[in-house]
Amino acid sequence: MTARLKAPKGTHDLLALDSEKFAAVEAVARRVFGSFGYGEIRTPTFESTELFARSVGETTDIVHKEMYTFPDRKGRSLTLRPENTAGVVRALVEKGIQEMPKPVRLWYAGSQFRYEQPQAGRYREFRQIGVELLGVPGAVGDAEVIGMLFAFLRALGFTDAVATVNCIPRGPARAAFSRALQEHVRPHAGRLGTEDRKRLEENPLRLFDSKDPEARAILEGAPKTLDFLDEASRTHHEELKRLLTLFGIRFAESSAIVRGIDYYTLTVFEVASERLGAQNALLGGGRYDELVAELGGPATPAVGFAIGEDRLVEAMTKDVRLPKTLVFVIPDGPAEFVYALGVSDQIRGLLPDAVVESDYSGRGIARGLGRAGQIARDPAHHPFRVAAVHAVLLGSREREGDTVTMKDLSTGTQQTFARGELAERLGGRER
Ligand code: HAM
Repeated sequence: MTARLKAPKGTHDLLALDSEKFAAVEAVARRVFGSFGYGEIRTPTFESTELFARSVGETTDIVHKEMYTFPDRKGRSLTLRPENTAGVVRALVEKGIQEMPKPVRLWYAGSQFRYEQPQAGRYREFRQIGVELLGVPGAVGDAEVIGMLFAFLRALGFTDAVATVNCIPRGPARAAFSRALQEHVRPHAGRLGTEDRKRLEENPLRLFDSKDPEARAILEGAPKTLDFLDEASRTHHEELKRLLTLFGIRFAESSAIVRGIDYYTLTVFEVASERLGAQNALLGGGRYDELVAELGGPATPAVGFAIGEDRLVEAMTKDVRLPKTLVFVIPDGPAEFVYALGVSDQIRGLLPDAVVESDYSGRGIARGLGRAGQIARDPAHHPFRVAAVHAVLLGSREREGDTVTMKDLSTGTQQTFARGELAERLGGRER
């Protein structure tokens, strides 16, 4: 037998049973984010490698060891996007962000790619749902996106989410923090691996991304970001905390959250879920006031976040798919197939929101009813959220008499009537 091909390591297929859940989550995102004035953006799945080096940062784990980078046929270095913020900013700069009315409010959903060691909740191709707000400098911008994030989480049934927030010093204060961190860690440098020693010299903030227990132990008594904020940054951070409290958003403060990406300035935040295993970071985000200028645009303050959609769906217990009526059309045998196609189309016209499915097994009405009954008893057998199941039974009697027999699977009642009466009967049923 020929060897079967498998999906590449770290990827996973979403068959309709799962995919419908992702689509429903994305529909909630569109509705909630849309209600705040955020429009959707779709950027290319691959970008020039330089974009990520300049935004995410050369010394981050993402750029350093997790990117899918390849030359195209003309030798240009391209990279499958490991995250979407860089692509969004690149697109806005390219389209002339200086001319756009501010603020610019955008959201996106799509695949991202990171060459990580796969484990539960960690994939090499994963999906993110993200949001970017550009042009609002104050803490009110951070509060808008975090407030909107919580509205989205609530709509998905996450009522107990808690944000962890921190503020990363900028400018000279950031340099002073980096120096203090180096002074704290250097005496212990001998205990660090080569990679962490490199981080210590080149980008000490990235030491916080280290998974090495030795490095973590050294960092325990390290200087705190919040002790290094300049006056304006402190005011920003205090104002954000005041706004979050005012709007009833549960949060904790932690100077341990520095996020594994270089573009952050001031506010950073994360939300974890206890319903996930070791990879419990549901989402992360923060302010990136210098990125637009870094990528060649005018100085533009910005803030956003991205949710790991695979993890989000994994942790969800609420069913956000819209309830649907399932009409299961069962021709008795091949002689009724064409009749069944016509009746199905007619019902779709009458019930545009229903799911009208035909059984073409040709194995008789009893078998078809068995399948319909299985879905009625346990809706998990169907990719849609089936709220009611009706069977339309079409035998030779129906075909010849131009009638249909309808059976309501929840009550078991069955009626035969002229096909011409479908509108009336279904109308009554739906109302
Ligand atoms: P990030 O923290 O790198 O931030 O990723 C955000 C979320 O994506 C994580 O919290 C996690 O849920 C999910 N994620 C990351 N890697 C994986 C993986 N290998 N498998 C499954 N899920 C994963 C960003 O990407 C920033 N662009 C967020 C942002 C937007 N900041 C400002 N605007």
